Amino acid sequence: MTPFNRSIKIAPSILAADFANFGAECAAVEAQGADWVHVDVMDGHFVPNISFGATTCAAIRPHIKGTMDVHLMISPVDAYIANFVDAGADILTAHLEAGPHIHRTLQAIRAHGVKAGVALNPATPAEALTHLLDDIDLICVMTVNPGFGGQSFIASQVEKVRTLRRMLGDRPVHIEIDGGVDPTTAPLVAAAGADVLVAGSAVFRGGSVSEPDGYGRNIARIRAAAEAAREAG
Ligand code: DX5
Ligand code: ZN
Repeated sequence: MTPFNRSIKIAPSILAADFANFGAECAAVEAQGADWVHVDVMDGHFVPNISFGATTCAAIRPHIKGTMDVHLMISPVDAYIANFVDAGADILTAHLEAGPHIHRTLQAIRAHGVKAGVALNPATPAEALTHLLDDIDLICVMTVNPGFGGQSFIASQVEKVRTLRRMLGDRPVHIEIDGGVDPTTAPLVAAAGADVLVAGSAVFRGGSVSEPDGYGRNIARIRAAAEAAREAG
């Protein structure tokens, strides 16, 4: 992983990719300018949808040159951490709402030498992280209810991003936005202090492995909109 910085990073979510062709899809978005690849794990219990698990992550890993950012929408988490570490995750993000002992979960992730992220559902306040700020490498602010791609951005979360940015001070912690990110919503969260923008439908729509330029155009549009908002702010 590259050293910490707050530059805008675009992280395509392969939930919107061709599930029968993950390897080529990951390589295509990276070649088209993706900074990280975002991998959504869903268990049909914590969220009302099932995607795939650690075995699929391990199969994808050799096709990603850069950062594999694994978002665990599962409960419980702790029993599966080692599996996702072995699968090659660079960042493992667990939901604060996934169990009673998020602090233990974050410690366990870091103990494996992997970056620890914590995700917040839309109803969870920023202040829930007050006592965790030194135990995390990334905060994932869900701007949709987790479980599905293609949902609409929840605008009330922009204020949460602003609050988190203030709370973090100069700690080296990424603020990641997940859900409904496109060239119209990216500027709102970039101006509020986010640096990692996950985008599923807005990256994969209008492109394919055989027409990857579409991915490149989509990534470039999101990045340009976010960077312009940063400069203006
Ligand atoms: C939602 C997932 C997201 C999702 C984003 O539960 O965590 O990563 O794939 O998809 P879009 O960008 O389509 O909202
Ligand atoms: Zn996600």
